[in-house]
Amino acid sequence: MPRLSVWFVRAALIYLTLGFTFGGLMLANKGVPIHPLIWRLLPSHIEFLLFGWTIQLAFGVAFWILPRWQTQRGNVRPAWAAFLLLNGGIWLVVAGSWFNWPAWTLVSGRLLETAAVAAFAWHAWPRVKPWVEGSP
Ligand code: HEM
Repeated sequence: MPRLSVWFVRAALIYLTLGFTFGGLMLANKGVPIHPLIWRLLPSHIEFLLFGWTIQLAFGVAFWILPRWQTQRGNVRPAWAAFLLLNGGIWLVVAGSWFNWPAWTLVSGRLLETAAVAAFAWHAWPRVKPWVEGSP
């Protein structure tokens, strides 16, 4: 597995753990009220599981598995940029929801996440190609 996929997949697993933990806390808090602030975890629960886990895992596996040119994966810089943009965006959105930061932090976080998707598509687009007889 290439180094970038290791980063993507490990980060995804960390977000899965956090997202499920927050979900479990909110669920428990519904049955036995623990603290009203626990509801503040809802946006981070959603962010961690949809972007941090699902999309990040898809990026990590796609970077590893999409067709290559011999051993080369083409231009890998946009894929690394996607990793940084995605995680930067996630934490901007989450920090904004925890600390009541102004709305522009949410917008900026979402813009970073959108840029991450665009950067990953830039990297992956040429690798989406049909299999040719005799190619590895
Ligand atoms: C990949 C897995 C998951 C995803 C994508 C996900 C996503 C979401 C989303 C989008 C919401 C907001 C729903 C709404 O506002 O109508 C939500 C709410 C919630 N989730 Fe999850 N979730 C996941 C797994 C879990 C797990 C494993 C737990 C519990 C252990 C959990 C507990 C909760 C709770 C308690 C709420 C609040 C429900 C309410 O509004 O009363 N979630 N989740």
